[in-house]
Amino acid sequence: MDATAANLLLDHHRDHARDLPWRMTPRDPYRTWLSEVMLQQTTVATVTPRFLRFVERWPTVEALAAAPDEEVLGEWAGLGYYARARNLIACACAVAARGGFPRTEGALRKLPGLGAYTAAAVAAIAFGEDAVAIDTNVERVAARVFGIGDRKAAGEAARGSFPAGRHGEFAEALMDLGASICRPKAPNCPACPIAAQCKARALGSPEAFPAPKVK
Ligand code: ADE
Repeated sequence: MDATAANLLLDHHRDHARDLPWRMTPRDPYRTWLSEVMLQQTTVATVTPRFLRFVERWPTVEALAAAPDEEVLGEWAGLGYYARARNLIACACAVAARGGFPRTEGALRKLPGLGAYTAAAVAAIAFGEDAVAIDTNVERVAARVFGIGDRKAAGEAARGSFPAGRHGEFAEALMDLGASICRPKAPNCPACPIAAQCKARALGSPEAFPAPKVK
């Protein structure tokens, strides 16, 4: 995506960003991290009420680190993958022990249970670092814009599109576009701010990108 398309997307995002409870100004790294962990394999609709309960009960990473494991695991029930809750607890304890979240992608990546995507997302969204967070939504949007069938290749191609100084905002713009317009099925191309730049649309088959997984 060239700079013109990136700017069109950012302009659109300014007016259409979803109002989500972890998107406060200024961003809270704890809420950013917690939401990203919850949103792995779980939808925004499911996560939102659970996130609110969670931060009401444990408003800070220190509070979460001090909570008994069974209580945290109980509160996690239904969000899937107990391993994620176990990692969450280990990470909260490490962060509390070091006196807060580290502010760079590289240092975040060293925390227990914190993967490449989450490290980039927290660094970019909460700390304003130019880290590139690519999830499956971003891969799908990129596959369509660039007309690339392969998901991973499309994600890699998207790296160069992130505008300097605005990586967090751009990642959220791509996520929101992927959730509301550039959906997996029946994308709403007439509402898309970058439809004119989209190769998959020009080819007449946005849904054909990315190519379906070979089973
Ligand atoms: N999915 C993953 N991360 C997200 C975020 N920060 N906002 C909305 N949806 C997301």
